[in-house]
Amino acid sequence: MELLKRSRRLRNNINLRNMVRETRVSKNSLIYPIFVKEGKNIKEEIESMEGQYRYSPDKLLFALDELQKSGVNNVLLFGIPNYKDEIGSSAFDENGIVQTALKIAKAEFPDMYFITDVCMCEYTSHGHCGCLNNNYVDNDKTLELLSKTALSHVQAGADMVAPSDMMDGRILKIRQDLDKNGFVNTPIMSYAVKYSSAFYGPFREAAGSAPSFGDRKTYQMDYHNKKEAIKEALTDIDEGADIIMVKPALSYLDIIKDVSDLVNVPVSAYSVSGEYSMIKAASKMGFINEADIVCETATSIFRAGADILITYYAKDLAKYIDEGRIG
Ligand code: PBG
Repeated sequence: MELLKRSRRLRNNINLRNMVRETRVSKNSLIYPIFVKEGKNIKEEIESMEGQYRYSPDKLLFALDELQKSGVNNVLLFGIPNYKDEIGSSAFDENGIVQTALKIAKAEFPDMYFITDVCMCEYTSHGHCGCLNNNYVDNDKTLELLSKTALSHVQAGADMVAPSDMMDGRILKIRQDLDKNGFVNTPIMSYAVKYSSAFYGPFREAAGSAPSFGDRKTYQMDYHNKKEAIKEALTDIDEGADIIMVKPALSYLDIIKDVSDLVNVPVSAYSVSGEYSMIKAASKMGFINEADIVCETATSIFRAGADILITYYAKDLAKYIDEGRIG
């Protein structure tokens, strides 16, 4: 038989397969989320996210050392405070948990890159991402709280801030206030395209941030919508966002593709807690091979168009890259 095209020809040798790969995965593109909590000598495993921990600032240093040795230099910090109130005031306390952890971490690891999640939900007594007005999250009043939080993170040493609250206008407000205070070169990664998702379940246990009433559907996006993703992304770029995030990742590959095709800034994707926990649980049961699934899913997110991947599997991926499984 005379076949003119034999696609298998390029699949017959591992070096050749590696040579013709269309998607590359690099440690430089990975960000590892870490939970820090107030206290000393704490490293407690998160029940819903086996292999992930809450660290007190002193113990965080060991986690950072391990991460840096794996070749991943980028961290996304989440704070778990002791004190919560109606407006989430410990979020912008200069001695708050994120601010304290940053000061210690930056001094010990000057070559690492520290991004902070900016949101109120871990700090409010009601668990919503802003302050309330008759049980409704008040958009415009929340902007001031978010901006104060972002500024306090940057003053404590954050290299980049990542607002995840989904209030309208927060990128503009944060950009203006950072600029006014001389931080014109601090980038903002906006959780611009953030869907209201059941995939955040394990995170809310990890961070103690589940809303005490209602849900987040009046501020996070409805997963039936696609054009709205473009609207959110373009709005935040207009307001000064440097990087646009799509979140979650795996059920939203079409959104990552559409957003990355349309915008002219880097796109990050957040493979969230539920994605992590599902893979962990199924592999623990022996139903899937964890390493193979992690490589395949991470690659699919880059293939969809993401430039950056935020993942609880960052350290594992670094190892898989070293082993030549992906890359
Ligand atoms: C804070 C925030 C959440 C996540 C990141 N930032 C939770 C939420 O919106 O309820 C989720 C991360 C994850 O699930 O891994 N607003």
